[in-house]
Amino acid sequence: MHLDLDEVGNVAIAGSGGTGKTSALITLAVALSRMGVDDPVQLYAIDAAGGALGALRSLPTVGAVASSADRELVGRVLRRLAEVVAERGPRFAEARAGGLESYRRADGGCGSEPRVVLLLDGFHAFRQTAETFGAASPFEALGDIMRSGRSVGVHVVITCDRPAAIPSSLTAALPLQFVLRLTNPHDYDHIGVDRDAFEEAPPGRAIAAGDGREIQFALVGGHGELAAQAAEVDALARDLDARGVARAPRIVNAPALTRLAELPTALSVATGTSPGSPTSRSRPVYGFDTRTFQPVSLPASGLGVIAGPSGSGLSTAMLSCRAALARWAAEERRPLEATLLTFVEDGLRRHTGWDRTACGEDEVAEAAARLVERLGGGRRAAVRAAVRSAILSAPIP
Ligand SMILES: Nc1ncnc2c1ncn2[C@@H]1O[C@H](COP(=O)(O)OP(=O)(O)OP(=O)(O)O)[C@@H](O)[C@H]1O
Ligand SMILES: [Mg+2]
Repeated sequence: MHLDLDEVGNVAIAGSGGTGKTSALITLAVALSRMGVDDPVQLYAIDAAGGALGALRSLPTVGAVASSADRELVGRVLRRLAEVVAERGPRFAEARAGGLESYRRADGGCGSEPRVVLLLDGFHAFRQTAETFGAASPFEALGDIMRSGRSVGVHVVITCDRPAAIPSSLTAALPLQFVLRLTNPHDYDHIGVDRDAFEEAPPGRAIAAGDGREIQFALVGGHGELAAQAAEVDALARDLDARGVARAPRIVNAPALTRLAELPTALSVATGTSPGSPTSRSRPVYGFDTRTFQPVSLPASGLGVIAGPSGSGLSTAMLSCRAALARWAAEERRPLEATLLTFVEDGLRRHTGWDRTACGEDEVAEAAARLVERLGGGRRAAVRAAVRSAILSAPIP
């Protein structure tokens, strides 16, 4: 049997424990990947059912396998799919294509536009985990992708332990449901299947709810062990690499540690357009955007605040900003003066690189007043008094 994703959009595979749901997903992933040279495909997976889908990671067609507990990666995967859906919508409409196949054939379309498929193992557990994520619920994002993905070649295949686990808001987007053996015979009534027919069904035996066809899922690796499936997936991965199949864009989490030296020193930032010639300024880079992985730069002027609880990295962030400024100033040959005002004896003061430091009430008031005066902001005595009264009315720990 083959699966026409353009027609059905999304697929559900329901069955009790051990009936072959995960194996069916692996079979589908392998079947889609094997065709990847002629029929480009990008696969992503969310695993809320024990980690077996990790075996798919070696495939060049697989861009990420996210454990459902990995909130960041799950978010990134769903965001990427939502972006693909949003980006393709107008493009497919322009080519007057109602699905991926017709877009590939259309004038103005593209024959190598990849099909994008999300495999979600353990829908129920995913939904429960997703509900703890709060505001931007991945569950809502999944629903949106399922409702609008079919016409732009983005599809979702989910597994669940019984058909009734699928909320009614999604059933319309799941015209094809494979039902493996179910524990509770009443669950068969839900899909209009004779409950006796499946009592003895072996793993991988399913009924396609709706059209009543009975099918047997093929098994990757020929026997049931996950190790055998993984070995066959690895062999396929090597074969696909050798045949030059297009790699799916990898989705990864932002690293928890990034060295400043790995980032560019400066970023050119547009500063408005004068007629005919856009102008840009160089700005010091101090980090990167965890969503886009693009460098971010400090503004040219103004007050910046680094806020957070003790131990969260405040001082380190301050030092990074100073180091970012220092290396930028050196490269740009600009003068730089770094003054530290602090109330902590043995904190940032111990670090070298400050041109001036002031510690404690008297020194801070004096140094602040001097700075304000040099910047043309007022008389030193008045500023000193203002700083003192600010310190006294809001003591800083
Ligand atoms: N299509 C198949 N043909 C033959 N045997 C299969 C098939 N699919 C699964 N099996 C057998 O059933 C076992 C369980 O399969 P699988 O882990 O895919 O089930 P599951 O429904 O995902 O289980 P769980 O609910 O525990 O996640 C496999 O180890 C394999 O031995
Ligand atoms: Mg499973």
